[in-house]
Amino acid sequence: MPIDIRQIIRDHQGRNYDLLREHVNPQFARVLRTIGFDRCYVRAEGAYLWDIEGRKYLDMLGGYAVFNFGRNHPDIRRAIIDALEADLPSWVQMEAPLLAGALAAELKKRIPYPLERVFFTNSGTEGIEAAIKFARCATGRPGIVHCEKGFHGLTLGALSLNGCESFRSGFEPFLPHCRQIPFDNLTALEAALSNRDVAAFIVEPIQGKGVNIPADGYLAEAMGLCREYGTLLVVDEVQTGVGRTGKFLATQWDEGCEPDMVVLSKALSGGYVPVGAVLLRRSIFDRVYSSMDRAIVHSSTFHEGAPAMAAALASLAALDDTDAMNNAIRIGAMIRDGVQAMIPRFEFLHAVRQRGLMIGIQFGKPRSLGLRTAWSLINRMDENLFPQAVTMPLLDRHRILTQVAGHRTNVVKLIPPLIISEDDAKWFLDAFEQVMADVHKFPGPVWGVLKDLGAMAVTHRARSETAPVKA
Ligand SMILES: Cc1ncc(COP(=O)(O)O)c(C=O)c1O
Repeated sequence: MPIDIRQIIRDHQGRNYDLLREHVNPQFARVLRTIGFDRCYVRAEGAYLWDIEGRKYLDMLGGYAVFNFGRNHPDIRRAIIDALEADLPSWVQMEAPLLAGALAAELKKRIPYPLERVFFTNSGTEGIEAAIKFARCATGRPGIVHCEKGFHGLTLGALSLNGCESFRSGFEPFLPHCRQIPFDNLTALEAALSNRDVAAFIVEPIQGKGVNIPADGYLAEAMGLCREYGTLLVVDEVQTGVGRTGKFLATQWDEGCEPDMVVLSKALSGGYVPVGAVLLRRSIFDRVYSSMDRAIVHSSTFHEGAPAMAAALASLAALDDTDAMNNAIRIGAMIRDGVQAMIPRFEFLHAVRQRGLMIGIQFGKPRSLGLRTAWSLINRMDENLFPQAVTMPLLDRHRILTQVAGHRTNVVKLIPPLIISEDDAKWFLDAFEQVMADVHKFPGPVWGVLKDLGAMAVTHRARSETAPVKA
């Protein structure tokens, strides 16, 4: 009997969290339950999700910036089905996969830099691993410079470049010769490069954790320093690429910058099949793949798979066909202006940072005494707690899915599909205004919930600190 996926779905629907708890990740199940995110989503289309009770949600998390074209995009799905129905010979290995060549050519058309070779991966972190290896091999140098608060993935090489202790802790030792510098700081960059032992400076054009946007010209000047000291500039566009900021690459906002490598992933998948790509200069490629002996010196079994290549080709076509990038600029500005206009009224609301549909809403210490007391109380319990006072009611009362952007940032991030409408933006702005009004009532129900969450976090920390660790 062939497997009946629909029957499996029917048999298990509604038991999502029992299964997660029992077989996959009980800690994550606990987190989702604690913050009230334990919903069973059963359907998705465009920028919307529906739960098992038929309630509609606006998805402003977008699978961590995967769904630039919305969920279940019919043209992308069609392209993958066509590839499957063509009975293509995927992973023959000792041949030239046709769709990989076609996709590489299409990617190069969209990238305004002389990057002539494309290496395909299955994820963002694999792209970073490849970039580290390529840079070391091409320069013969060991060092990698990266930024505080940076995020490049969680495999060991990429984790060695991670600027957040909460991800790193427990996984030491890391790759040697990695040096961390402050983001958007050219003096620190020059100091780090000046020994001429650095293979690459790996940097996000906009940092995902916190949505930190550097000063105009930062990337171009960083490139100048890299050239001066013989270091390669690698831009990690895993989150910012494929139209997210209103240009194909966020690096393009900095006109004078020409990186040596660009790493893409996430939205290239069309939300269907994981895929990533590293675009690199021919001179780098030639140093790595320097002879027939080394023709596959860096590779992986599953790269260049036909469904992934079809998904990526269809994603690029979707970007061409829709007004997604202009829409990202227009709707992004509308949300930014709407939130900005609320700043004078709401003390916790400090700033909004935005480029296209990558938006960070920054919260911080309020001015008035009562609210300052509430802020200190909550932050003493847990420094990551306050933004939950925003994301939780946004989901629970207004059916909008958002995320907290990193540890200790006090930032709520919006990375919705690029196709969201003006009505969706209004849905968010009305909801956000109500949530802000409630957060500014102290004492009030929001603070009761936060206090309970904080108490839970404190108890949990105390328990794990005293629990014996099994050898
Ligand atoms: C900027 C950036 N680089 C790399 C990665 C890692 O990508 P992946 O999760 O596909 O390994 C991410 C993931 O969030 C990211 O945001």
